[in-house]
Amino acid sequence: MRDLPVITFCSTACALLFAGCAGNSTPGAEAVSDGSFDSVKTVLERQCVHCHGSARLAGMPALSNTRELATLIGTDRWIVPGSPEHSRLYQVATLSDYNPGAMPPTGHAISPKDLATLRVWIEKGAPLPAQETTLTPRGTAPRSR
Ligand code: HEC
Repeated sequence: MRDLPVITFCSTACALLFAGCAGNSTPGAEAVSDGSFDSVKTVLERQCVHCHGSARLAGMPALSNTRELATLIGTDRWIVPGSPEHSRLYQVATLSDYNPGAMPPTGHAISPKDLATLRVWIEKGAPLPAQETTLTPRGTAPRSR
């Protein structure tokens, strides 16, 4: 996996910034994220699975079921358990629109609450359900550039 310390720093800083802006009715996005797989599944199904499903390009990690997700989790993989800042899957979601690698490709489509959900799940070790589960796109695909 590529190691991008500058981007890592930036994503951490941006994530903190975003989290700070989250509180309108809730006191901070983290309070509402339990980091459960169900909450993460909803985020991925709304923001990612439209493109990262079965008809994806080479080099795009597969997110359409928990068996594929499991292959992305581990040290030096896309999702590093316990370490969102080293997880490429989390990093790309925190990048701004100005960065061509931002995911979803618009950059702004993912909310601070959804980001916090992803982060807490990874911090908790990225647990998956014992039973294989399919992820199905929800709603319209996030805008592409
Ligand atoms: C509109 C389609 C689309 C959506 C939605 C989307 N992606 Fe992607 N993703 C792509 C494409 C195309 C690539 C491969 C080209 C590239 O790297 O830009 C990619 C590549 C990636 C990569 C590897 C690229 C790298 O720079 O390491 C990761 C990780 C990733 N996506 C995560 C996500 C996550 C997480 C979400 C949801 C928050 C998401 N993507 C949503 C289209 C999408």
